[in-house]
Amino acid sequence: MQTIDRLDMLRTAIADLRKDGARIALVPTMGALHEGHLTLMREARRQADHVVASIFVNPTQFGPNEDLEAYPRQLAQDSAMLEAEGVTLLWAPPVSEVYPNGFATNIAVEGISAEFCGANRPGHFDGVATVVCKLFHQVLPDMAFFGEKDFQQLAVIRAMARDLDLTRPHVDAIIGVPTVREGDGLAMSSRNRYLTPEQRAAAATLPRAMKAAIAAIANGADAPATLASLEAALLQAGFESVDYAALADPRSLARIDSTGGKLARLLVAARIGGTRLIDNMAVEPA
Ligand code: PAJ
Repeated sequence: MQTIDRLDMLRTAIADLRKDGARIALVPTMGALHEGHLTLMREARRQADHVVASIFVNPTQFGPNEDLEAYPRQLAQDSAMLEAEGVTLLWAPPVSEVYPNGFATNIAVEGISAEFCGANRPGHFDGVATVVCKLFHQVLPDMAFFGEKDFQQLAVIRAMARDLDLTRPHVDAIIGVPTVREGDGLAMSSRNRYLTPEQRAAAATLPRAMKAAIAAIANGADAPATLASLEAALLQAGFESVDYAALADPRSLARIDSTGGKLARLLVAARIGGTRLIDNMAVEPA
């Protein structure tokens, strides 16, 4: 595996990879890799000839009081993991290579970015959309892989690809991969390592309470009342606050009060010991 940290060298390497018509998949990450990330790498390898992984802790998607400085950085360990997965090229640029002096452009995907994480983290999805658009233009992949773990992020990126006529990768070549979970159901996340053993044990209430809520809604329970019980269960288990627990249309991400006989998505963000955890699951129509 080749590791590259300069854009001019990346462009040459990508042109080389593409020479014989090879298909290239991009898997963007911020590093601190876990089995969720590696599942994306494997899926990308299955569908493309070459996998290009990126590791870049993107400062523009962190708010002023968020964990940019504390975010785990472990390039040597990550790089060994990617190599073992058969990744062809690791793109790991410094901040100055992505945001040189004078950088002044921002991509805002209106509407779909507004609610949920967008409401709790102002500017977050602008940062994500801008960096992902840059990564697409830097690597020019035929397809790109993202986790459903960040369901709103995936929707924002698909909307951007559609709106900006990104042909590489075009909207259908943005592939969502189901959330990879720990044995007790907690969604894998680079932020889980912030949790103390007690908080980690309590965190498993999140997927458990979400499943219970989904079962109740499938049995015809009133969704707003069920979501209120879900919030209460999280606070009871030791979460200090719930940013949102909501039912949404899985495509538009518009908030809904009932499944209305259609597939919906349950989206939750809650804080435990200062760590913000997010999760989402499909809700089959009642
Ligand atoms: P990061 O949090 O490192 O995640 C990189 C990719 O891995 C994202 O597509 C995310 O949805 C996916 N992922 C994380 N945990 C997962 C899990 N448990 N199961 C399946 N997929 C999972 O998301 C970002 O980085 C950044 O916002 C990025 C897109 C790289 C832009 O900076």
